[in-house]
Amino acid sequence: MEKIVVGVDGSQPAQRGLEWAVAQASVRGARLVVVHAWQPSAAVMSPYGATLADPVSLADTARAILADSVASVDTTSLAIVPELRLVQGPAAPALIDAARGGALLVVGSRGRGGFAGLLLGSVSQQIAQHATVPVVIVPPGTTNSRAEAAGGGRVGAPHR
Ligand SMILES: Nc1ncnc2c1ncn2[C@@H]1O[C@H](COP(=O)(O)OP(=O)(O)OP(=O)(O)O)[C@@H](O)[C@H]1O
Ligand SMILES: [Mg+2]
Repeated sequence: MEKIVVGVDGSQPAQRGLEWAVAQASVRGARLVVVHAWQPSAAVMSPYGATLADPVSLADTARAILADSVASVDTTSLAIVPELRLVQGPAAPALIDAARGGALLVVGSRGRGGFAGLLLGSVSQQIAQHATVPVVIVPPGTTNSRAEAAGGGRVGAPHR
């Protein structure tokens, strides 16, 4: 059975990538692996300066991002239930690794972070350059009109 891998970070562009990946996996009868990578070293600002966030709560947040991302799309068309994979580490290597031997690696063009005005985030850029399987970068405004109709909105200005 073919494997399609998709990265999610809780952002609207990532959800569009996920919807695209679900549709593609359904058409191809492929299994879907949904990956969320997280890092324990994220600094959090407190009144006393930057501190390290509690790794346990960060892991819980990461688990919730992954579960909620998948719960909010319709996966009933898939041949088998998607695999949810939580990875500790930087996102691009995690996705490239998960996609090894697969048919397709799917990401959104942007994510939760980054500067408005950039066409691609750093994760999608790294994947485009380094992935060993075919990559699909789902741009804003193309995937599904239902998301827009529901008030999903674009990320950043159109035609940046
Ligand atoms: N932590 C992650 N785990 C899994 N996939 C991710 C993660 N972060 C991003 N992605 C995937 O990569 C896509 C592009 O996100 P990216 O992080 O490159 O953009 P950005 O957040 O706008 O910019 P940057 O992170 O460089 O500031 C997302 O839509 C998602 O598919
Ligand atoms: Mg990002």
